Amino acid sequence: MKKVHLAAIAIAGIMAIYSCGGNNTQTETSNAPATPAKVTGDAIYKKTCITCHQANGEGLPNTYPPLAKSDFISDKEKTIAQVIKGYSGELTVNGKKYNSAMPAQQLTDEEVAAVLTYVYGNFGNGGTSVTADEVKAVRGKL
Ligand code: HEC
Repeated sequence: MKKVHLAAIAIAGIMAIYSCGGNNTQTETSNAPATPAKVTGDAIYKKTCITCHQANGEGLPNTYPPLAKSDFISDKEKTIAQVIKGYSGELTVNGKKYNSAMPAQQLTDEEVAAVLTYVYGNFGNGGTSVTADEVKAVRGKL
């Protein structure tokens, strides 16, 4: 009898998780603690990066460099560091110089991994995945 009970509780729990996490239409509860539901790179991009790098990843001329087909991101470690630590000073993307500043992004290792996997998989980029462990390793070196 006990086993049946436990199974029922487990199923109810799983259903609860799915019913909260299934829908990504931004319910502005940004202060909610990290939910066990998976963070999506898409959502993080739209919340965090889009203001500067734009919806299409093209950035803005002379101000925000593009993530779309950026040659900069071929260096994964440098790209991870860019997001964790931000950067200010001269930087070259696809032969064009930018001299602006990107603030350090306050994201967890999982969030950095998710958003960069999203960037690599979209905007005409080649599609590489970034894991939380890789982010952690770079963070440890900074
Ligand atoms: C406040 C504006 C701003 C936000 C928000 C921002 N960036 Fe940036 N980003 C910049 C600027 C400006 C540079 C170039 C910095 C320089 O010129 O020194 C840059 C450079 C980069 C680069 C390296 C150059 C390139 O285009 O390939 C990457 C990668 C990058 N950003 C990714 C991200 C990601 C991912 C996010 C969201 C998690 C993000 N940025 C959020 C402004 C921003």
